Amino acid sequence: MEFVEIEWNSKLYTLEIELRDRLLRAPLGLTFSSEELEAESTELHFALVDQDQVRACAVIVPLSRNLAKLRQMAVHEDYQRQGLGSMLIHSIESVLKQRGFQKIELNAREEAVTFYERLGYHAAGDRFMEVGIGHWKMHRQLG
Ligand SMILES: CC(C)(COP(=O)(O)OP(=O)(O)OC[C@H]1O[C@@H](n2cnc3c(N)ncnc32)[C@H](O)[C@@H]1OP(=O)(O)O)[C@@H](O)C(=O)NCCC(=O)NCCS
Repeated sequence: MEFVEIEWNSKLYTLEIELRDRLLRAPLGLTFSSEELEAESTELHFALVDQDQVRACAVIVPLSRNLAKLRQMAVHEDYQRQGLGSMLIHSIESVLKQRGFQKIELNAREEAVTFYERLGYHAAGDRFMEVGIGHWKMHRQLG
């Protein structure tokens, strides 16, 4: 399993979108618009790749020099609960730390809160709704 940074609009980006669409959008009856994908050109795309296939991915939005937002975290359905999600988060944290970021925040789907807690993320504030499902704001200080 190789940790890679994916270039926007590359072949791997297409595979990343397929995975995100299948796991995060299609179950909610949603799709990605071309405007949404265009806006992702300024975001950072990270993945775990094996045999030229994207097995896990996440998107990072640099919100400021120190603060990054993690979004669109997904692990291929055949590879869940095998440590890939944790491996991807650890690799992303290490890259972001090297690049000077000090904090990561994210909006966790309710069913994924335990996963992030296990990785040292803390929930803050009240439960809120997004794309029709309950979410919690979570954050972690790097370093
Ligand atoms: C949530 C998700 C990213 C976790 O990735 P993963 O590779 O399966 O997670 P890991 O194997 O690294 O899990 C580490 C620990 O987190 C916890 N965990 C992971 N998935 C969990 C789940 N669905 N429910 C409860 N705890 C979970 C467990 O404690 C797990 O350790 P264990 O397997 O030894 O019990 C993945 O299941 C996924 O893509 N789900 C569908 C999309 C999604 O919900 N994305 C998150 C949006 S915020």
